[in-house]
Amino acid sequence: MAVVLTVAANKGGVGKTLITINLAGAIRRSFPEAKILVVDTDAQGNSTKSFRVKVAKDQNTIYDVFMDNATVEETIVQTYDDHIDVLPANSDNNYLEFDKMEQFRDTILEWFVSLLKKFKDNLTEIMTVSGLKKKMNNIIDPSANYFNALDGKFDNVSDKYDYIIFDTPPELKQVTSSVLSIADVVIVPYEPDLNGVDGVTHLISRVNTLKEKYNPNLRIGGVLANKVYNTNLHAKMINAMMKYTNRNNYHYFDSELPRSITFADKLVRNGMPITMSSPENKFAQHFYKLIIEMNKLGLLSKNGKELEIPHKLYVESDGEE
Ligand SMILES: Nc1ncnc2c1ncn2[C@@H]1O[C@H](COP(=O)(O)OP(=O)(O)OP(=O)(O)O)[C@@H](O)[C@H]1O
Ligand SMILES: [Mg+2]
Repeated sequence: MAVVLTVAANKGGVGKTLITINLAGAIRRSFPEAKILVVDTDAQGNSTKSFRVKVAKDQNTIYDVFMDNATVEETIVQTYDDHIDVLPANSDNNYLEFDKMEQFRDTILEWFVSLLKKFKDNLTEIMTVSGLKKKMNNIIDPSANYFNALDGKFDNVSDKYDYIIFDTPPELKQVTSSVLSIADVVIVPYEPDLNGVDGVTHLISRVNTLKEKYNPNLRIGGVLANKVYNTNLHAKMINAMMKYTNRNNYHYFDSELPRSITFADKLVRNGMPITMSSPENKFAQHFYKLIIEMNKLGLLSKNGKELEIPHKLYVESDGEE
């Protein structure tokens, strides 16, 4: 069964996509046998584009999976690398929450009609709001369908992949909640600026709610600083975050990611994650260090055990950026 990893933060631009695609790349190179599925759930489609996947007009996307228009198998596309598949996203996902609401309204109406039929001889039982709520809750928890909308949908492909890695949009609403409700591990990136710490605490609180409600197996893999550079502000914010994670027993990744000046440019030029195109690159090396740290924590296996890494590509203090 695949290990389901996700990168989530309710803030834009903190590196969710960059980390998702480079984790996929680093796992690909470190575990040459592994089959990886990258699932893009963000309407911006950035991780889709990173693997040079172009979404044709009539092609299924994650939107169709959410809306029950298509199965996961029908939506997956192959990339240039035969060990990496992508489940793409495009701007259709901007409309997901509206469309899902409409779908949801129809479902509620159907429940209501079935309730009326069931209680037609004793309607007084459901003729008050509280009475109706009680009966509805007995039948189904409406929020379960909404915030756990991917439940079971990846089960059929779980045996085909070793890793399923989800990129998420910068929010904590339906899409991210649904991903967190089926993930094994969430990595929480943040930028150590003035608002970064707040964002992480909100995200973790949401993770804990979802964990309790839908997904007791979800592990907070750790908090990961990105775009770090040598300033007093960053040092101060990192210090505050480490105190927070320590106090609350969350892991803080040693393998922080520095702000790279050349990275964005390289990503575009090569059309693939830098961990795949140039594992020896100084920036890519941070991800190989992260892979080792994640592995030590048991985050790369389903049973939480450390794995043997067949290709160790982390070479301390080697490589040029
Ligand atoms: N460590 C870094 N050094 C330099 N540039 C970075 C770094 N991390 C991310 N970036 C750049 O910052 C921008 C935002 O990163 P990315 O798209 O990964 O963030 P995101 O959290 O996925 O954003 P969104 O919420 O909009 O999806 C990108 O142009 C990316 O190349
Ligand atoms: Mg992104």
